[in-house]
Amino acid sequence: MGRLEGILVAAAIAVLPLGSVPMTCLGVDDISLPPPRRASAVSVEEALARRRSVRDFSDADLTLEDAAQLLWAAQGITHASGLRTAPSAGALYPLEIYLVAGKVGTLPPGVYRYGPGAHELVPRVSGDRRQALAAAAYHQTWIADAPGIFVIAAVFRRTTVKYGERGERYVHIEAGHAGENLCLQAAAQGLGTTIVGAFSNAEVARILGLSEEEPILIIPVGKPR
Ligand SMILES: Cc1cc2nc3c(=O)[nH]c(=O)nc-3n(C[C@H](O)[C@H](O)[C@H](O)COP(=O)(O)O)c2cc1C
Repeated sequence: MGRLEGILVAAAIAVLPLGSVPMTCLGVDDISLPPPRRASAVSVEEALARRRSVRDFSDADLTLEDAAQLLWAAQGITHASGLRTAPSAGALYPLEIYLVAGKVGTLPPGVYRYGPGAHELVPRVSGDRRQALAAAAYHQTWIADAPGIFVIAAVFRRTTVKYGERGERYVHIEAGHAGENLCLQAAAQGLGTTIVGAFSNAEVARILGLSEEEPILIIPVGKPR
């Protein structure tokens, strides 16, 4: 490891929760996701009618296919020019989607960042962080029962650099779009979600090892009990 790399790794470890190790340090490779489906037997109207906040999950795991489809619904690329499933002011794409995996297919429990370009997961932090995340959401303990928890975060300056203060409003609007995309996709897959906005930004950022992004929404996902 070179000197600069060593400094960067030390900086990454400094922002992580005690006992966590950045997976990049463990040599865990990026994970290619199963390609998203573009059709289903459930209409948009049915998904809208089915969507309901779910806070009681069965013991069933989330499959990697399910997680991949949800990530694509939130921020997947749908056009050769890089345009995505959700609209973005000025196509500046400030959002980053994280998956806090507990029981997701064969994924080692940990925190992963979605890479829309390659439709892949980039490992960030090892270990099951669900309990810590539930505690950071002012002890909404049911959150930790979800096999997978999605977090929508944003790099605000990607948008404010062009739109100034109004850009902050745009980023929140975009998080709402991406969150609803994910919730409707989950409804179509027979999965339950809840939009969670009550949490400590600083705590969630620490648990996920975020540096430049700010968390906006937490969305636990699982099979309704
Ligand atoms: C911005 C926002 C923040 C929310 N935060 C929470 C939350 O922290 N915890 C929770 O259990 N539900 C939360 N909810 C879910 C609402 O309680 C829920 O949407 C509402 O009761 C309507 O029920 P429905 O989603 O089943 O239609 C939030 C919803 C929104 C839109």
